[in-house]
Amino acid sequence: MENIIKKKQKIAENTFEIDLRCPGIAKNARPGQFVMVRLSDNGERIPFTIVNSTKTNITLVFKVVGFSTKALSNLRKGSHIHDIAGPLGCPSPLEGAGNLCFVAGGVGIAGIYPLLKALNQKGNNLITIIGAKSKDNLFWVDKIRKESNKVLIATEDGSAGRRGTAVDVLGMIMRRRLDMVYANGPLPMMKNVSKVTWRMVKTRVALSTLMVDGIGLCGSCRVKVKEKQKFVCLDGPEFDAHEIDWDEIIRRTTMFCDEEAHASKKCKCGG
Ligand SMILES: Cc1cc2nc3c(=O)[nH]c(=O)nc-3n(C[C@H](O)[C@H](O)[C@H](O)COP(=O)(O)OP(=O)(O)OC[C@H]3O[C@@H](n4cnc5c(N)ncnc54)[C@H](O)[C@@H]3O)c2cc1C
Ligand code: FES
Repeated sequence: MENIIKKKQKIAENTFEIDLRCPGIAKNARPGQFVMVRLSDNGERIPFTIVNSTKTNITLVFKVVGFSTKALSNLRKGSHIHDIAGPLGCPSPLEGAGNLCFVAGGVGIAGIYPLLKALNQKGNNLITIIGAKSKDNLFWVDKIRKESNKVLIATEDGSAGRRGTAVDVLGMIMRRRLDMVYANGPLPMMKNVSKVTWRMVKTRVALSTLMVDGIGLCGSCRVKVKEKQKFVCLDGPEFDAHEIDWDEIIRRTTMFCDEEAHASKKCKCGG
């Protein structure tokens, strides 16, 4: 049977990893693509990056931030997911060769994994910087180490690695020759990565804007890239960081905060 949770594990504070059996999506998934998950007939569609795939299963890693992620975190191994659409979005062009640097924060730590794996197989030299609030928010460090030549860790409270942010660490290594930077994490973090690498190193980021349908009809994931309107669900999620209008995208993403906080409070599903 399809859309069944085959494995569920808490991997960090409020962060879960689930393996879902969906062979149709698994066999077509490429690095950088995502799925839209719906938990009930009238539920909202939630976008999640496909962070790994086998012949039959896909892996998702998600953080509980509101109503739908709370409900998903309450499902158990063996539960059936109402529907999963995908793979969606453009696969990453896996650009760059030589010394590549990945900068990841939050669930972006899992988001970079498929790209890291693919670019490692191509024989690049990979430096990965992982940032988290504290050591309780870190996960997949061994998996990331296996695919990287060097891993640097930063935590805001100094409980693991260097005290500070992943962007601080990036600033420190900018003297090295870097051929390409990839970033995946909260929008303000990616905006700051883009500032640090501006006019120095080509930088690509995976945008996680608000999405409603995931197929280019609703316009909720609209972003301005190189002064042109693009849809993250169709044209992305990966874009050149230096061509993005960051202020506009951050403003649009926080537009429904009050409504979401209200929905999350009304959720009676625990979590
Ligand atoms: C292409 C894509 C891939 C994504 N991949 C992952 C992933 O692999 N793992 C993961 O945990 N999350 C991922 N996200 C974000 C995830 O979809 C949202 O966290 C989720 O939809 C929140 O739903 P909710 O009902 O639980 O929270 P809501 O009640 O909708 O929101 C709770 C809080 O989170 C904020 N928020 C909601 N959606 C987003 C968003 N897209 N970006 C930034 N802040 C948001 C809201 O502004 C609000 O403050 C991805 C988003 C996109 C567009
Ligand atoms: S999510 Fe609706 S247009 Fe992209």
